[in-house]
Amino acid sequence: MAVKALQITPLSVPNTSKVNFGVEIANVDLENLSDSDFQRIRTALYNSHVAVLKNQAGLSPKAQYELTKRFDPASDNYGHGKTLDAKRSVLHPDLKTIPHQPQVQVIGNGYYDEYEGLKNITLKHPHHAKFHKDKIPEADDLDATRFFRWHMDAALYALNPPKVTSLMAVKVPAGRRQTVRYDDGTGDELDVALGTTAFVSGQNMYDILSEEDKKFVREAKIEYAAHPYVWMSPAKSRSDGLGMISEGLELPESDLPPINPKDIKVLPMCFKNPVTGKLALQIHPSAAKAIHLPNGEVMTDIKEVRDLVHRLQRPGIAPEFVYPHDWEEGDLVLFNNQGVLHTVVGAFTPEEKRLFRQCNMASSEGVMGPDDKLY
Ligand SMILES: [Fe+2]
Repeated sequence: MAVKALQITPLSVPNTSKVNFGVEIANVDLENLSDSDFQRIRTALYNSHVAVLKNQAGLSPKAQYELTKRFDPASDNYGHGKTLDAKRSVLHPDLKTIPHQPQVQVIGNGYYDEYEGLKNITLKHPHHAKFHKDKIPEADDLDATRFFRWHMDAALYALNPPKVTSLMAVKVPAGRRQTVRYDDGTGDELDVALGTTAFVSGQNMYDILSEEDKKFVREAKIEYAAHPYVWMSPAKSRSDGLGMISEGLELPESDLPPINPKDIKVLPMCFKNPVTGKLALQIHPSAAKAIHLPNGEVMTDIKEVRDLVHRLQRPGIAPEFVYPHDWEEGDLVLFNNQGVLHTVVGAFTPEEKRLFRQCNMASSEGVMGPDDKLY
């Protein structure tokens, strides 16, 4: 039987969209993926940041792990390591580990008797009311929603940010649509499919900055909180999901697990793409704690830090720059985790069942800064 060649096409987006990233790749046989086809996928991924592989419903968790690992063969530990076990982590309720493939997590909504060795599990789609300071009124809750939490997948303490994440849609609820409200005074809104995953390009986020801001973000670094997902757990998010509100609620160091100073991450604001050499503004806004300024000073006032990060990032999540993926069962999305931010979106009823698998590994090496150094 003739093997069909890979077909790579830009993602289709509405006329009003200015999304300039993302490809769909057809005819991918992941069970028999040649090195040359893998290299084509890798090149497409690093040029386009998000790659949607269609019709992969039969992919096993092991094969998903192996594909994800192929982008960083020396990596092996799940991107958050064992920190998910920390009951106080904001990530704890959202992810369940597949027992026989611990680098792969199950996320979703609804009750399942059994899935890949997980028995009697109830998945709960993260709802903004659990994380945001103010909430959409109950009467509007199924029609309107929020970006839950813009982020890259990364422990940001002790472990390096994963290079690539894979997300596989096993079960997708039927196609209701919702309106994402930014609720930040701009009136910005975005129409999305129920349970979309929204992506923005860090490269675009950098490209649309003023020349002055570009220079600043090339030289400044972000210090992340130790055990950031425990640290932020009592605090609340802005309504656009892009960072936290400063009310002094973060846990003091005395209430965190032990801290090893050498595990604290100070990462460049911009990461360099290993294939194209282009820069992405790549900050995890809710985990940021301080800014190491180009002049050597450290900005530690958390409100000032967050306001500055938000000013730099907010233009990049404007509705016209967001790609909300409209999931179909069998979609396997690979994304350049060091070049995009993404977020969960949506408000589900308990009956609306959704089951996804997520896989990433802490990178075997640090991220590359604009100065070509690894951090
Ligand atoms: Fe994620």
